[in-house]
Amino acid sequence: MSYQTRDQLISLETELNVQYQALKAQNLKLDITRGKPSADQLSLSDHLDGFLEGNYLTADGEDTRNYGNLRGVTEVRKLGADMLNVPADNVIAAGNASLTLMYICMLHSFYYGARGSENAWSNACKAKMICPVPGYDRHFSLCENLGVEMVTVPMREAGPDMDAVEALIEDDDNIVGLWCVPKYSNPTGVVYSDETVERIAQLGKIAKPWFRVFYDNAYAVHDLSDTPVQLASLWDRCEAHGTQDSVWQFGSTSKITFAGAGVSFVAGSNDNLAELQKLLGVIIIGFDKVNQLRHAKMFPDKQALLTHMSMHAELIRPKFAAVLQALNSELAEYGSWTQADGGYFISFDTEPGLASEVVRLANEAGVKLTPAGATFPYGKDPEDRNIRIAPTLPPLPEVVKAMEVFVNCVKLATVQKKLSKLLSQN
Ligand SMILES: Cc1ncc(COP(=O)(O)O)c(C=O)c1O
Repeated sequence: MSYQTRDQLISLETELNVQYQALKAQNLKLDITRGKPSADQLSLSDHLDGFLEGNYLTADGEDTRNYGNLRGVTEVRKLGADMLNVPADNVIAAGNASLTLMYICMLHSFYYGARGSENAWSNACKAKMICPVPGYDRHFSLCENLGVEMVTVPMREAGPDMDAVEALIEDDDNIVGLWCVPKYSNPTGVVYSDETVERIAQLGKIAKPWFRVFYDNAYAVHDLSDTPVQLASLWDRCEAHGTQDSVWQFGSTSKITFAGAGVSFVAGSNDNLAELQKLLGVIIIGFDKVNQLRHAKMFPDKQALLTHMSMHAELIRPKFAAVLQALNSELAEYGSWTQADGGYFISFDTEPGLASEVVRLANEAGVKLTPAGATFPYGKDPEDRNIRIAPTLPPLPEVVKAMEVFVNCVKLATVQKKLSKLLSQN
């Protein structure tokens, strides 16, 4: 914010306060917290219901109504392979949540150990996971649940700070993994550069055998632009370096079809998948293959998937545009933000020490924002700056209104802080 005299700040604060009280008096009830698809996005897939028309057989004659085939039906594994850019033979198609698969993979490494109990995190080390920040709160919850300590590295424009990641791995055998959301990262929208992908592929060469990259490609096909940035193939780079065992890749159709009834995927090396399958076999006899088959029928090839995703983009592009319009026109002097070309989020940084206050003010004015700190491990943003904006769920007029409140709250919190600092100096 440019320099203002004491009197200018006082009159600006009064003006912003009047606006704030007027917004409060509107008794709003708006919510831009979670990255959920809107009802009209979900409706794009309503024809999933009834797709099978009573034919439950896969192309190779499997009856999807019955138990079995833990790896999932062949044609849906091909869909997962297209999404994640990996070979279909190296994909398991599962239930409706990739988050569950991530947890099970962690659990496997933690208790049983990849290639033997001597590599189990609980035996071999005091497990620590590298978390690029800001990042996805549910990844942090998985770590917390297993008592895996989280070590942060900064998220840069090209992905995680790879110098910091490599240094941590080289210096500390307790590092057991790295969280990644390589395309349209949650919440920054960053797409990892080719160099970042290459360096991630090489981590397996310097890390301990129990180390795994958790490569959560949740937004692999969630482009907003017609000319999206291409993410390099981690699979190919790992193959070139012989490091396939060091990586798990994940994805799902949660934000493609139904968030509550999609299909999830995990991809890994043959040996990794064989071990995972053993553990999965203890938990479940077979995932929902009827749902897998109808997904496969809905997306017979990658083009069908991309065409469907362009319909999602049509629906949510105006909402992202509304957020960016509000930020660009009003908050240039009050913070910084990311220009996401896809995914579900825009990440806003206030001036240091203000995020919690902005969230509090907005909540009191009837606009729910993701709690400040949620994008950092243990809910603690050391600089109290980051706020994740998730514009997909509410209808466009609500996004516009919520942003009006957001803009007012950011300005008010900033001006109040400046003023109180100025007054305390005098
Ligand atoms: C980065 C990321 N991974 C995973 C998920 C959840 O995926 P799923 O529905 O497949 O469990 C989300 C949902 O917001 C996400 O943002």
